[in-house]
Order: sequence, then structure tokens, then C-alpha cells
Amino acid sequence: MPEPLLEVRDLAGGYGDVQVLWGIDLVVEEREIACVVGSNGAGKTTLLRTISGMLRPTAGMIRFAGRDLAGAAPDAVLGAGIAHVPEGRRLFRGLSVRDNLLLGAYTRSDGRAAVERDLAFVYDVFPILKERRNQDATTLSGGEQQMCAIGRGIMAQPKLLMIDEMSLGLAPRAVEVLGEALAGINRRGLTILLVEQDVITAFDLARHGFVVDMGRITISGNTATLSTSDAMRGAYLGSVAKSEVG
Ligand SMILES: Nc1ncnc2c1ncn2[C@@H]1O[C@H](COP(=O)(O)OP(=O)(O)O)[C@@H](O)[C@H]1O
Ligand SMILES: [Mg+2]
Repeated sequence: MPEPLLEVRDLAGGYGDVQVLWGIDLVVEEREIACVVGSNGAGKTTLLRTISGMLRPTAGMIRFAGRDLAGAAPDAVLGAGIAHVPEGRRLFRGLSVRDNLLLGAYTRSDGRAAVERDLAFVYDVFPILKERRNQDATTLSGGEQQMCAIGRGIMAQPKLLMIDEMSLGLAPRAVEVLGEALAGINRRGLTILLVEQDVITAFDLARHGFVVDMGRITISGNTATLSTSDAMRGAYLGSVAKSEVG
């Protein structure tokens, strides 16, 4: 077995005296799509913030591409190859789509030509962003803003792209388009970690799933297997199962 791209062991953390994460174990293998699912307030965003260096873990290990990243600063984590697409997209008002995308490349030092090549790649994946490239990014639709936020993450040329609540607040068709784009990007070699309240969307895209509840991983495994497991159905797919029966 090759070493996983990301390995999180026994991770603890939170905000000051408020501990949110308790003994988190999580593994993301190279070139896969994995997901963390859980209800509102379960600790998903806190987990991503801790991995990306915005929060300092109080215990545990974060190993990424052969490097130890627990406690590393956000720029160092980004430099190591982890890009974090935040919950709520966080695009900059007053800046064009193109300039928002270019902000994602600010830590790179591989030259203008490489950055332009990746910009062309993002436009290829999301053609609407090319059409709207000179428009203020915050005037885009929700789905387009999510494309721009994901594109900005790609512009950092990461090995791992972590996306917090990609589907939240978007129409089903927009989620579908984004999902197809992610599958395409993943086929071209990018590893993706999705964090979602929407279990069905996440399990549809991801090969491995981790369920977080009150800051702990309670269930994990292959998403195809988990989708049909009683524990999952009871806890998270229950309403769907009921509506199928009813
Ligand atoms: N800045 C903060 N300071 C203190 N507690 C916070 C902060 N942000 C989130 N929390 C708490 O951490 C817990 C997990 O939140 P969060 O990671 O945002 O969950 P999720 O992303 O799964 O909805 C919640 O109880 C939330 O109230
Ligand atoms: Mg969240």
C-alpha cells in the first residue's frame, strides 16, 4: 500500500478553551475524492481550518505528502499543496472574476506562463467564468461563485483541494454541474476532500466517506457500502429512506 496523501491521526482542536475536535482519524488517498459529512455544528469546518493551519491543533498528527503539517502556518500548508475552498465562497467584492482567480496563485513562484496556463485550465473546466471574467465576482450566481471559489483553489496548483459545503444553498442543477466538473478535475489527477452536510451529493462523488458527529468520526468507509448500511440510513439517510417507502 502506498502512503496516503493525507493522514490525520488522533487530532484534537477547537477555539481557545472550547474543544471541538476529539481524536479525529482521517485518511485521503492519492487521486481519490473523499468526503467528510455531518450535520450543522458537527465540526466539519473546524476540521478543515485545523488542517489548513488557520487553527492550531492541541494534539495529534497531520501528515501530508510525507511532511508533518500539524501546527504549520496557513501559507506553509498552502505551499505544501493543500488548498482550502472556504464555506460561503468568500470572493472579493470589487474584483473581477479573473482577479479573484489570480489571487489563488499569489504564493506561486513558477512564473507568469504557468499561472496563465492554469487560468486557461480553469476557464476550460468552467467556461462561464471565461465569459464573465471581467465581471465583479460577487455579481455571479451562487453556482458561478462556487465555480470561481473552486477555480481560485485550483490556481494554487494544489495536490489536495478541500471544499467546504460546495452544494450549500445551490439549486440541484448547479450542484450537478459542479459535481461533474469536480469528477473531471479528479480524473486529471487532483485529489479532493469534500465537506458536506448533503450526504447524498457527497457520497455520489466520493469513494471514501467519514461521518463526523459532535467532533468525532463515528462511521467511515467506502461510500457505496455506507449508503446501504443500517447505521447510515438511520442517522443520515433516514428521511430519504422514509420518503422512498412512503
Ligand atoms: N469561532 C468559533 N469560536 C467558538 N466556537 C466555534 C467557532 N466556530 C465554530 N464554533 C463551534 O464549533 C462547533 C463546530 O462548528 P463547525 O466546525 O463550524 O461545524 P460544521 O462546519 O460541521 O457546521 C460548533 O459547536 C460551533 O458552535
Ligand atoms: Mg461548516
